Amino acid sequence: MRHGAPVELVGEGIILQKTVWTDAEVVFGAILESQEILYPRMRWASAIPSFEKTVASCHDAEGQWDRGDTLNYTIWSTDGECLGRCSLHHIDWGVPKFEVGYWVRLSAQGKGVATEATRLLTEMAFSDLGARRVSLWCAIDNIGSRRVAEKLGFTHEGTFKNDEADALGRPIDMNIFAITR
Ligand SMILES: CC(C)(COP(=O)(O)OP(=O)(O)OC[C@H]1O[C@@H](n2cnc3c(N)ncnc32)[C@H](O)[C@@H]1OP(=O)(O)O)[C@@H](O)C(=O)NCCC(=O)NCCS
Repeated sequence: MRHGAPVELVGEGIILQKTVWTDAEVVFGAILESQEILYPRMRWASAIPSFEKTVASCHDAEGQWDRGDTLNYTIWSTDGECLGRCSLHHIDWGVPKFEVGYWVRLSAQGKGVATEATRLLTEMAFSDLGARRVSLWCAIDNIGSRRVAEKLGFTHEGTFKNDEADALGRPIDMNIFAITR
C-alpha cells in the first residue's frame, strides 16, 4: 500500500532508515551484544535468535513495510553504527493509530537514543501519516521505557493487569501511554 512513510528520518545524533534485509549482519551483532537486556523485555529474544532468523526478520520487515502492516526502522549513529531498531506497529489505518516500539544496543544505552528515535517516529506519524493516536506500551517495571514516554509528553492512560507474559512465562502488568491529536 502507499502510506507515505519516509524511508529515512534524521534526528539529533541518530538516523532512522527503513530496515532492509542487508541490515541483518549488523543487527545480529547488536542483538548478541545486548542479549541480557533484550531477553527479559522482547519476546523474540527469549532465546538468542540465530543469524538466519535475524535475516528473516529484516527480510520480513521489507514486506511489512510494503503492506503497511509495520513500519520498521534500523537506528544508526551518524558514523554508521547500528544502534538498534524501532517501529510503528499494531497499525490501524482506519483511525489512523500506531504503536511505537524500540530497543537499543547495550553499548549505546543511556545516551537518549530511544527518546530521540521515539520522538522522530511519533512526529512522523502525526505529520506524514495523519495519525490521531500514537501509543507506547511498557511493562510496569521498565523504568527506562516509562521515562521515554514521560519525557516526550505521552499521557499515562492506565495499567493493564496480566496483559503480557515475561520471558519466563509469568504474567506482567503493562502501562499504556499515548499522545492523541
Ligand atoms: C528501554 C530502552 C529502550 C531505553 O533506551 P535508551 O536509549 O537507553 O533510553 P534513553 O537514553 O533515551 O533514556 C530515556 C530515559 O530513561 C532512563 N533510563 C534508561 N534506562 C534506564 C534504566 N534501566 N533504569 C532507569 N532509568 C533508565 C534514562 O536515564 C532517561 O531518563 P532521564 O533523561 O530522565 O535520565 C533500553 O534500555 C532497551 O533497549 N531495553 C531493552 C528493550 C526494551 O525494554 N524495549 C522497550 C520495550 S517497551
